[in-house]
Amino acid sequence: MATISWSALMSAGIPEIDADHKTLIGLVNALHRSIGDEEEYATLGSVLKALQEYTEYHFAREERVMGAARYPSLIAHSLAHRRHEQQVRDLRQRYEDDRQAVRAKECLDFLHKWLIEHICSTDMDYRPWVIGHAGAVSAAESISITGPRPVAATLDWRALRLLVVDDNRNFSEVMRTILEGVGVRDIAVAHDLSTAKLAVEGKDFDIVIIDWHVGAESGLDLVAWLRRHPLLKDLPILMLSGHERIGSREMVLAAGADEFMEKPISARGLLLCLARLLTRREQSR
Ligand SMILES: [Fe+2]
Ligand SMILES: [Fe+2]
Repeated sequence: MATISWSALMSAGIPEIDADHKTLIGLVNALHRSIGDEEEYATLGSVLKALQEYTEYHFAREERVMGAARYPSLIAHSLAHRRHEQQVRDLRQRYEDDRQAVRAKECLDFLHKWLIEHICSTDMDYRPWVIGHAGAVSAAESISITGPRPVAATLDWRALRLLVVDDNRNFSEVMRTILEGVGVRDIAVAHDLSTAKLAVEGKDFDIVIIDWHVGAESGLDLVAWLRRHPLLKDLPILMLSGHERIGSREMVLAAGADEFMEKPISARGLLLCLARLLTRREQSR
């Protein structure tokens, strides 16, 4: 199935809603690419988790926007949202029960179809009611993927400079989709340790996200190298691992990383973790 591109014709008239739609489209595209990935559970599992989180949060945001604009078809639209939420929940459950289940083409085609139909048709119906409506705009701004209010009023995702060190290109794209969804614009990706070292020595980053296994190399070696580096020893590090191992967290933290997350990751969990790292860094300054 062809990947989908967001276009201005799909604009619902509220920038935050458009940003959510771009993220949802990015996740559905990632879903297709993740089938058959050599680390499929880590990648596809993360996409399905993120899709569930994003649909539930986005629908809540959209319903606030429609309510603020007194959109007359709010109830029917909300019922369609409840059906879609259930479909994504079922898909994710089927994947957890049987990892072959969602590889069926019909299943992905179905998701693709409803998302595009919903964004391009059902959502377009409320556009004339919300466009230029001050209450609808502030309703959209009152909620975010990380909670009812922005995690930290001072946290500016758009100013964040991030380096992702992961040899898995599909997973790196999933990370990019999630991060761009909250407005992060400066995301560098390194697929091996020597590229990562050159990147951090050549530019200031706010956070480095490192996978445990970077090809045949160990992300732990990069953590140790950073902690020994006279200029980079305080750089916040989030380490990821797709290989469940007892004691992984303790090992990673003992090596010098600040945070640890297991793949498949949760989009909300990732963003809250990054927010924690940034807040801690600000407090230590
Ligand atoms: Fe929508
Ligand atoms: Fe909708």
